[in-house]
Amino acid sequence: MSIRTATALAHPNIAFIKYWGNRDHDLRIPVNGSFSMNLAGLFAETQVFFREELQQDQLILNRNKIRGAGLTRISHILDEVRRKANLQLYAEVSSKNNFPTGAGIASSAAAFAALALAASKAAGLDLDERALSILARHGSGSACRSIPSGFTEWTDGKTDEDSYSFSIAPPEHWDLVDCVAIISSGHKGIGSTQGHRLAETSPLQKARISDAPRRIEICRKAILERDFETFASIVEKDSDLMHAVMMTSNPALFYWKPATLHVMESVRAWRAKGLPVFYTIDAGPNVHVITLKEKMNEVKRKLENLEGVQKILTAGVGGAARILE
Ligand code: DP6
Repeated sequence: MSIRTATALAHPNIAFIKYWGNRDHDLRIPVNGSFSMNLAGLFAETQVFFREELQQDQLILNRNKIRGAGLTRISHILDEVRRKANLQLYAEVSSKNNFPTGAGIASSAAAFAALALAASKAAGLDLDERALSILARHGSGSACRSIPSGFTEWTDGKTDEDSYSFSIAPPEHWDLVDCVAIISSGHKGIGSTQGHRLAETSPLQKARISDAPRRIEICRKAILERDFETFASIVEKDSDLMHAVMMTSNPALFYWKPATLHVMESVRAWRAKGLPVFYTIDAGPNVHVITLKEKMNEVKRKLENLEGVQKILTAGVGGAARILE
């Protein structure tokens, strides 16, 4: 009998053009395309083991046994893999992150990318990058962007098959660094999955979506041409637009703390004085401050001196999800 186990590693990613709202919530087909870069040095490592003796799927996350909704979400992906591989065995899944949860870095993206790869490999499937990206997307939308390498684009797509991510440039293309200013590591009230459903209750969401193709074009060109100034302004605009939608949805989602705004204002002021730096913020209070590698220490120092910033996590551009031998 073949060995039905595999271990995979995947990086989390930070979005430059954000995914917020779905055309199809069950399949996680987004209302707009998005861009991100993988975060090097930070990863989820996931082992999947299909075993005869199991009566149900099991999930161990950072050494804790998970039941309920967390397990169901994993089983959903395992079911899809079992269907594709014509396999009837349950699996033991153990996953760990090397970055703190609540650090403002979506752990679900890395976790589901690693799960899609490890589970399909363990089941004996040989899925190509596109099929893996689609499988990962079913677990967590942004996870599809953690499958390919470096700077990745996720096309919105009209159907399940045409909504996936691909690399537009490898990690070496541009030496960018994400300095994550941690403002609070407490658990956020309303997570992304619920947030995507609330997006359409904001009257601003329609405008955000209809202008998305324009922002996508500007962002893609800026990345490919390493045009920092244009990149900075379009990414900040896109983040601000998403937060405007969040703040005006029903119920309203306010993720920012006073220190979040303080970091945003400081970053804008530093850029006005010539420092290559900009911010982008996901569904939480922490601020991702993007700069060039050569300016990382300077940006880190400046951030550390701001009131309300607890600590800084740094990450360069990461590669694709991969199998660990
Ligand atoms: C604000 O991918 O975490 O980080 O599909 O429900 O798991 P689910 O949502 P998720 O949403 C990410 C939202 C975001 C923006 C982004 O990463 O594009």
